[in-house]
Amino acid sequence: MSVVPLLLGLVAGAPPTPAAPARATVAALRTEYKVDPLGIDATRPRLSWKLQDDGRGVRQTAYRLQVVPDRAAFGDTVSFWDTGRVASDRSIHVPYEGPALQSSRRYYWRVRVWDGEGKPWAWSAPAFFEMGLLRPEDWTAKWIEPGLDEDTSRSQPVPLLRGRFEVDGKVKSARAYVSALGLYEMDINGRRVGDELFTPGWTSYKHRVQYQTYDVGSHLRRGENVAGALLGDGWYRGYLAWNDRRNIYGDRLALLAQLRIVYEDGRVQVVGTDDTWKAARGPILMSEIYMGETYDARLERAGWSAPGFDDAGWSRVRLAGPGPPALVAPAGPPVRRIEEIEPVAIRKTPDGDTVADFGQNLVGWVRLKVRGPAGTTVKLRHAEVLDKDGNFYTANLRAATQLVTYTLKGGADEVYEPRFTFQGFRYVAVDGLPGELTTDGLTAVVVHSDMPVTGHFETSSPMLNQLQRNIVWGQKGNFLDVPTDCPQRDERLGWTGDAQVFARTAAFNMDVAAFFEKWLRDVAADQNDKGSVPFVVPDVLTTPERFAGGSAAWADAAVIIPWTMYLSYGDTRVLETQYPSMKAWVEYMRSQAGPSHLWNTGFHFGDWLAYAAPSAEARSYPGATTGKDLIATAFFAHSTDLLQKTATVLGRKEEAAEYAELLARIRAAFQKEFVSASGRVGENTQTAYALALRFRLLSADLHTEAARRLAADVRTRKHLTTGFVGTPYLCHVLSDAGYLDLAYHLLNRDTYPSWLYPVKQGATTIWERWDGQKPDGTFQDAAMNSFNHYAYGAIGEWMYRVVAGIELDPGAPGYKHALVQPRPGGGLTSVDARLDTMYGRVASAWKLGDGRFQLSVTVPPNTRATVRLPGAALAQVTEGGRALTSLPGVAGARQDGKAVVVEVGSGTYAFAYPDTNLELPAPSLPAAP
Ligand code: BGC
Repeated sequence: MSVVPLLLGLVAGAPPTPAAPARATVAALRTEYKVDPLGIDATRPRLSWKLQDDGRGVRQTAYRLQVVPDRAAFGDTVSFWDTGRVASDRSIHVPYEGPALQSSRRYYWRVRVWDGEGKPWAWSAPAFFEMGLLRPEDWTAKWIEPGLDEDTSRSQPVPLLRGRFEVDGKVKSARAYVSALGLYEMDINGRRVGDELFTPGWTSYKHRVQYQTYDVGSHLRRGENVAGALLGDGWYRGYLAWNDRRNIYGDRLALLAQLRIVYEDGRVQVVGTDDTWKAARGPILMSEIYMGETYDARLERAGWSAPGFDDAGWSRVRLAGPGPPALVAPAGPPVRRIEEIEPVAIRKTPDGDTVADFGQNLVGWVRLKVRGPAGTTVKLRHAEVLDKDGNFYTANLRAATQLVTYTLKGGADEVYEPRFTFQGFRYVAVDGLPGELTTDGLTAVVVHSDMPVTGHFETSSPMLNQLQRNIVWGQKGNFLDVPTDCPQRDERLGWTGDAQVFARTAAFNMDVAAFFEKWLRDVAADQNDKGSVPFVVPDVLTTPERFAGGSAAWADAAVIIPWTMYLSYGDTRVLETQYPSMKAWVEYMRSQAGPSHLWNTGFHFGDWLAYAAPSAEARSYPGATTGKDLIATAFFAHSTDLLQKTATVLGRKEEAAEYAELLARIRAAFQKEFVSASGRVGENTQTAYALALRFRLLSADLHTEAARRLAADVRTRKHLTTGFVGTPYLCHVLSDAGYLDLAYHLLNRDTYPSWLYPVKQGATTIWERWDGQKPDGTFQDAAMNSFNHYAYGAIGEWMYRVVAGIELDPGAPGYKHALVQPRPGGGLTSVDARLDTMYGRVASAWKLGDGRFQLSVTVPPNTRATVRLPGAALAQVTEGGRALTSLPGVAGARQDGKAVVVEVGSGTYAFAYPDTNLELPAPSLPAAP
């Protein structure tokens, strides 16, 4: 079989390449977050661009957009859509407002801007977007099913489907529009179409299935052509969730493919799947998300997807039903092969397994290179960890076998990669290999949604740097078309709570706007008619008997994530689109809480996997469990608050007022029920305080007192006790309330429970549990012990926002106005952080040494920033070696207590001053007596 060439992406976490010096250029044109997308279905696509100029104070005062269906039509004026000069500083998400866009048509666009001096810049290079099939009647192809006998109660061999068509002229362009029930891979004339994996992606299949659009012009030839497709069980009918469940969406695989060929002479030919196609079984005997793949190379059918192959013995296909209610273009990025990793060691375990160690817990699969006699079977088993004796450990995978089996056809070198499965692993045990296993024989292929890397965070602490890498790897491993809890055991589901706690961190490391936009539509689609939100999206846990959803902090993903995307990307459309879903969830909570405004009914996961105190400790500091009614009422308030803010952004004044009033009632109810007159909150747990403080549920005086009590608890225990729910907020509320030292202590602590304990144990990803593996190498639990669970990685946002100080202004979202306000401490001597925003790069890098504090700040064009220099005296601050006053690009500088505050426009600034007044919290608290 052929190996698809690797598309090397940027390694997430590696420093983005430094931009070349730029002058007055408009570039990085994006349509709906994408570069020159094919097959979109947004009928008012949003256009974004970046001003590139390293100068200071560069801004846009006006823009002009031109959109044309024919690239040659660009000119001084264009008739299709020309905005003329629009006085505006808007350079992101400008909606197309021209004539209706037509299915399959390509549109070119360009933009020019006027800068702060009113000078026009040159036109950008043209970009384009191309529409997909916008109307149901554009689809003339038929859904087809392989007409093969199947026992759908278990895994089935992957069928091959094959159809022929004629091309009778010179082709100008050709597109394939393809979808499937199940997963598909398509070939035309023996060559793979596109490089996307796990297509058509995972959506709420009951409501919507995606189709992909491919440029297949170069695949076609005059005369007979052949299209071939493989269909995998995938999420549609493969094993999913637990207890051998399968066929969740249906038990028949189906394919829909339509080709639109435009000839040089202007003719348009449309061909599609129909009942002339044929089907047969091929070499893939089993391919399942959880279970791996079984491949027998002796069963390959050479040339099956090219002309000239004899398919006389193949079965006919059947026409299938009408297909899903809606076919939609993908809003999110495709899944691709992103990088490759070679084994760092081969070892023999005490139990006798030969194991390749890739040095990194990762998600994807192994490419096997092997040579040997026909019929030899090689087995690859995948594991995340070795046990305390160094043996291969798979108990935590539960029913997910992750077993890849390859049977050789014999002869030359054979190179094989599985297709419709992915594995979560660092170690691969190899059985049956002819000859010795060497590091050349195996390569790990890392697979995930292809999201641009946007963040970089590095410090003088190697441990924190490893933590950051682990967070990024957790993101890579669990952003495979949907945000999953974990990528290895029989789960891999879109757990809403996990996504909710991690979304803000994710938006630092990579551009996740389009990824979440897609998923949020499924959140809305899978919400029930009462407004309740499922535990997992796409929802595969609800049964006819029971709606599996409605848990506080999980279901709130429906509100928190759209708001987070709005803040991070300045995207108001995601708020518009999600508003009904956001509102329905808040209304559901309102109906559950009733007139008391206390939500104390229903099922909730609570502060999942919170630290459980051993009995000796529990006696001295009781109460490490946060009440579920407190959590539920706190999130009821929080989501109501975000909904109220959303209504304000959308100009829905009445609703904003209504939800503001509802919020006031919930706060009052919360205080009455859970807050004592002296400021004790609920069960006195860290999570109770974190929620009450972060969601501003307390009166001003009790806020201070509650923070003091939280600080006292952290100081006494010397560690965190929070679970999934409280963890993202804990360090924030401490540093906000003046306890930066405690926040740094928690961050730097390297014994259980802490973020650095797993790092000290050699973790290369974030663990599901604070103590997944104990210091003696034994495991916490077998049934629920993932070593790649991003939830606790939610500390990442605190590192970017507080340690580096890259913060946004909710009043000017998307970093249109950024705040750069680092809070040095924790024993760190340097921090280097960057974030590529919609406008360009925001950077904050600080350094301590030689009695000086230095801060380098980068602010992208068409934005401004408020820089806060901690422990600085106005007269002592220099920028680029000169006194701060009267510098270009600096709009204002003032002393604000112990800090100097500087307003800057775009550009790079190097601030420096003596560190004498800098208050630096210690790396950690004194050790326990
Ligand atoms: C998942 C979690 C999820 C939880 C619900 C687990 O099985 O792995 O991450 O949020 O269930 O509490």
